[in-house]
Amino acid sequence: MVRSETHKKLFIPGPTEVREEILDAQAQWMIGHRGKEFSDLYGGIIEKLKKYLNTDMHACVYTSSGTGLMEAAIRNGVDRKVLCCVNGAFSERWAKIAESCGKEVDKLEIEWGKAVKPEALEEKLEKGNYEAVTVVQNETSTGVRARLEELAPVVKKHGALLLVDTVSSLGGDKIDVGLADMVLASSQKCFALPPGLAICTLSDAMLEKSKRAKGKGSYFDLANMIEYTEGKRQTPETPAISLMFAMSAELDYMLKEGAEGRYRRHVEMAEHVRSWAKKNFALFAEPGYESVTVTCVKNTKNINVSDLNKKLKEMSISDGYGKIKDSTFRIAHMGDLTLKDVREVTAKIDGVLQ
Ligand SMILES: Cc1ncc(COP(=O)(O)O)c(C=O)c1O
Repeated sequence: MVRSETHKKLFIPGPTEVREEILDAQAQWMIGHRGKEFSDLYGGIIEKLKKYLNTDMHACVYTSSGTGLMEAAIRNGVDRKVLCCVNGAFSERWAKIAESCGKEVDKLEIEWGKAVKPEALEEKLEKGNYEAVTVVQNETSTGVRARLEELAPVVKKHGALLLVDTVSSLGGDKIDVGLADMVLASSQKCFALPPGLAICTLSDAMLEKSKRAKGKGSYFDLANMIEYTEGKRQTPETPAISLMFAMSAELDYMLKEGAEGRYRRHVEMAEHVRSWAKKNFALFAEPGYESVTVTCVKNTKNINVSDLNKKLKEMSISDGYGKIKDSTFRIAHMGDLTLKDVREVTAKIDGVLQ
């Protein structure tokens, strides 16, 4: 395998670092997607995914980025009216997607850096008649983590579907997918895979809604996808087979570490980066709601992130996102990175900033 010699270790919130073994796993001979070999590959992926997530809900893997499934959630889960909780760039994106799909969208707007709280959600749900609620569990733009266990009962009480974006947390943070009707994620974050695959779990209620949904289109018809996945153990269209080879190998690795082990490793990395950030800068996220996969740091010293990245040479961190692009920067600690890796990056930054 010939790879370029320039390798920057990525501490950006996706794509994340992909281990060499996984890069190699993609380079298998091609197989047809209507044969037993593929059914075994894809069926195996779904089994391993469910095992890792400790669920018997419906699950599937799309050849798409996460945004595709954000749109799928709306097209399959909402006929008319949705409540979008907005507290950052990606939750705002979901509201815009819903509007662009022609849905009636109400927003529960929360200051960036703060979390969605059950009281505010309850107040909003009491007034409107919503079919679904969208929540970004890990707002990658602000480093804020939602407490799903507090939000889910409120949504359930009002009979709405709970649609949850865990794009930058599933596979790292501890997520009880059973709390939501749809949980979606991308391959290039905590799954430590290249971009190109999107993962989701669905409840029976979401599947029923999808079966009846009008105007859901064809590629993101979730009911059809689940029928193929659970029946033939195939996907309706030609999938990114090379990426699936990689996903199958990575899921074996994830199962060995276990969900609890991965979560603990992410917490350790997060604690290190947070304490470094507090000592040198300040945290953007509301205390108690900090993400375990990405830390958003207030750029109190006005450092130039692109200059810093040039000096970091073989490592790279991320600038801010959206309207806080210049006033914050982000260090991701997700995927297969270790405490040693994040210690190295903060030490290197210290060296450059001295
Ligand atoms: C929270 C969140 N949601 C959605 C997305 C979009 O995912 P994708 O780039 O896979 O479409 C991102 C990407 O960074 C994200 O962080």
